[in-house]
Amino acid sequence: MKLGIPRERREGERRVAATPDTVRQLAGMGLDVLVETGAGDGAGHADSGYQQAGATIVPELDTTVLDILAHVRPLDPHTAASLQRGAVTVGLASPSSELPAVQALADNGVTSFALELVPRISRAQSMDALTSQALVAGYRCVLEAAIRLPRFFPLYMTAAGTVPPARVLVLGAGVAGLQAIGTAKRLGARVFANDIRPASADEVASMGGTFVRLDLETVEAAGGYARQLSSDAGTRQRQLLAPHVAQSDVLITTAAVPGRPAPLLVTCEMVQGMRAGSVVVDLAAESGGNVEGSVPGRDVLIPTADGTGHITLVGLKDPASAMASDASRLYAKNVANLLALLVRDGNLTLDFEDEVVAGACLTHAGEVRHQPTADLLAVRTATAVAGQEGAP
Ligand code: NAI
Repeated sequence: MKLGIPRERREGERRVAATPDTVRQLAGMGLDVLVETGAGDGAGHADSGYQQAGATIVPELDTTVLDILAHVRPLDPHTAASLQRGAVTVGLASPSSELPAVQALADNGVTSFALELVPRISRAQSMDALTSQALVAGYRCVLEAAIRLPRFFPLYMTAAGTVPPARVLVLGAGVAGLQAIGTAKRLGARVFANDIRPASADEVASMGGTFVRLDLETVEAAGGYARQLSSDAGTRQRQLLAPHVAQSDVLITTAAVPGRPAPLLVTCEMVQGMRAGSVVVDLAAESGGNVEGSVPGRDVLIPTADGTGHITLVGLKDPASAMASDASRLYAKNVANLLALLVRDGNLTLDFEDEVVAGACLTHAGEVRHQPTADLLAVRTATAVAGQEGAP
């Protein structure tokens, strides 16, 4: 069985879906691993490392002959359509935003596994790429803030005087937020955090942060995820957060609600209430933004309300890709561990009785098996048909 590892095509993407370490694991499963030239360059893995691990290096992957394709970024519709019927893909698929690719995978009879859909149960933790990549992102966003802040994070008591520690506020204490709390704490800052899930207060405390209690109901949906706040509750949350934001030197926002744009937690006015020199890092910038005015991949300077200077608003883009070496190390392990469930003695054996296999499957045998994505596609098709009928 031929397993292909492509050079990621999306601009700025430096991660890779296999490392020499996982190539050994994959070859041990009886797979014939083909790695596209330069696939690991961005993550620090030369072609020779893959070769020594047992892979074959090919100048260009011929997707039409692959049995399995493992990737990082969602496939484009053209690649999805080029795969042979019955081929298997494993990688991030962003189903709700990549509907044409999902349709192409289904139309082409490809069995695709989306790492975002891996059930968040103990047995599947080693395949949970959302967690592994959020961990990298949470660490990275603190470093981005620290490098821009014109102050120390830790307390310093020196002969020349005492420097107080920076005050960091983290909004959203999921995997990335908790990692941000831990990283800021290790750098010596005083760290505060808020989340709307009931379990989050204990989780924040376990990372060394101080939970900011707001007079607001906690909300939780299935699987331990947050639900979207009502519009009134959202407004109230922003009002209650405003004084905490104003006191912070660094604000890091990581809030997300599955299947929805990121909730707006911080308005431009709230940012303007911070002191000159403060830094805001919006980890959710690419999915709608937690902070009004954040632009993915850009630093925006916001003037303070008191006219004394400006605040730097960082719209984070591809944070995990920016730490491609360790991000790939973890991601490639997630991929290999999921493949270990799908391959026996060098052959594909798809056991849909297994809740991890069934849960992670996006398309199979011509169907979109993930119901929310199938529903979105049905709406898209109905809209397209209505548009054609209405056309002159
Ligand atoms: P996520 O990336 O979907 O959201 C990040 C955080 O934003 C969440 O903690 C959420 O509660 C918070 N949030 C949403 N709206 C907010 C608002 N208006 N204000 C403040 N915070 C808001 O979440 P992530 O990191 O993927 O984790 C979600 C849940 O899954 C957590 O309960 C986590 O403990 C659990 N989990 C379980 C795993 C397992 O058992 N294998 C692995 C990873 C996470």
